[in-house]
Amino acid sequence: MKGIKIRGTGRCVPQKVLSNEELSRCVETSDEWILSRTGIRQRHVCTTESHRDLCVQAAQAAILDAGIDASGIGTCIVATIGGDTLVPAAACMLQKELGLPNDIPCFDLNAACTGFLSALHTTECLLGASGKKYGLVVGCEVLSRVVDWEDRNTCVLFGDGAGAVVVECREEFPSIGAVLGCRGDDTLLSLPGAGTKSPQHISMEGAGVFRFAVEMVPRCMERVLSKHRCTVEDVDFFVFHQANARIIDLVVHKYRIPQEKYYKNIGEYGNTSSASIPLVLSELKEKGMVTGGSRALLVGFGGGMTWGGALVEFL
Ligand code: UT7
Repeated sequence: MKGIKIRGTGRCVPQKVLSNEELSRCVETSDEWILSRTGIRQRHVCTTESHRDLCVQAAQAAILDAGIDASGIGTCIVATIGGDTLVPAAACMLQKELGLPNDIPCFDLNAACTGFLSALHTTECLLGASGKKYGLVVGCEVLSRVVDWEDRNTCVLFGDGAGAVVVECREEFPSIGAVLGCRGDDTLLSLPGAGTKSPQHISMEGAGVFRFAVEMVPRCMERVLSKHRCTVEDVDFFVFHQANARIIDLVVHKYRIPQEKYYKNIGEYGNTSSASIPLVLSELKEKGMVTGGSRALLVGFGGGMTWGGALVEFL
């Protein structure tokens, strides 16, 4: 089986920064509560930007970073809980805006916060089957549209943004060996769809999701490690879905992962769902914290309830 490696990364976040201080003037909360319970200091929220704007800019940056021409892209998947329109899919408008080839699959994929990992796995399968060389994977969310700004249990947690990667597929590359799973559940985290009577807001039983994450992240990590026949020490970097700094702290403590091997940017962006992992990947690459040959273990989890992990190498 052919495998993929990460060749380029990019990101785009909206300009408007909403601080904890500003939020505490709208709902009964405080900077102290948000920071100590979640690690979030601020989040970026769209004012004039659309979902499409974020997708296009993140994808353009990733293609530029990869040093390839858009005409070489062989798959285009946008992981998202929803773009500006249900139809056309965000990926179809990316095809148009970036001038990607016509004869490639372009579609959106919703697996909540596990969306980016699901899209990465799907891209590896599609490229392997089609013989095309490069795939574009974007994680993009405008969650500020679907949070209830009067519900302090959720509105302080989420943010908007997009992260993108260009992957290269070759016969001699090892597979990312993705592990994906789901425990169907609509009680812990949900967002009603169009046409339903309930208000279209995210609702979450935070403590239950926290327990789910603390159980599933280690289990997922261990499955990825065993699939790749390697240990925690063999991994250069750990990239966790940025939902709560305390979840990451518990996991790194359990596996004694040293500080220089993981990264938290939840303080700046909040939880950006499917964008959170590619946002981290883009910052790591830009800062030179990962270079050619670095191997990163990615772990995501979220609504569904879903989880996923993979071991990716940078070119
Ligand atoms: O990406 C998708 C996955 N999502 C997650 O992974 C989220 C996982 N869960 C969490 O991150 C945490 O459970 C939260 C940050 C959501 C909540 O933290 P917690 O320590 O589990 O708090 P809690 O829900 O048990 O609530 C504790 C108290 C409650 O008050 P009472 O009932 O004890 O009086 C809440 O009403 O904190 C209150 N509270 C707040 N207080 C101030 C909840 N939200 C706020 C707030 N400001 N924003």
